[in-house]
Amino acid sequence: MFSETMSDDIREVLISEEQIKEIVDRLGKQITKDYAGKNLVLVSVLKGSVVFMADIMRAIDLPLSIDFMVVSSYGSGTTSHGSVKIVKDLDLDLSGLDLLIVEDILDTGRTLSSLLEILKMRNPNSIRICTFLDKPERRLADITADYVGAVVPDEFVVGYGLDYNQHFRNLPYVGVLKASVYEDNV
Ligand code: IMP
Ligand code: MG
Repeated sequence: MFSETMSDDIREVLISEEQIKEIVDRLGKQITKDYAGKNLVLVSVLKGSVVFMADIMRAIDLPLSIDFMVVSSYGSGTTSHGSVKIVKDLDLDLSGLDLLIVEDILDTGRTLSSLLEILKMRNPNSIRICTFLDKPERRLADITADYVGAVVPDEFVVGYGLDYNQHFRNLPYVGVLKASVYEDNV
């Protein structure tokens, strides 16, 4: 069961609002340097990355476009190369563009690695990945992010876009849930 306020369900703050600001600022400056003179397009995979997207796009001091995708994984989670189905495709034609995928968290990497295969076929000039969080201990696909906000341990985290049963996306920091939240929700 969820408590009346979100903060009542949080056991521990893992990344504070102040730390998030520093992360976004650092990544934004780096991306601004790296993409000067390029045709940058930020692509966010909904819904988890929407909060990070809103922040990182304003931390990049370059002309850029944004676009959104909705994907769903199909097949069982036990296949080594999970494929994704595009539920909502991009509006932009990617040819010649420098694509930066903005993600909330890189976990097993299955979703993103099959998405990369699809996007590479559309002839962008370049493709890179910017992930707010990275959980390298859980990686199953051969994929690494080019920009990483913070590396987190193998623990389920919520907030700053990340959900548990569609809740906690609006928590302004990243936290770990109390065990009581899971107990009645299994
Ligand atoms: P994967 O890298 O293909 O395993 O998928 C990553 C997706 O799983 C992310 O975009 C999240 O939606 C979700 N995810 C992975 N770890 C967490 C977590 O700790 N909290 C919330 N969502 C998570
Ligand atoms: Mg997600």
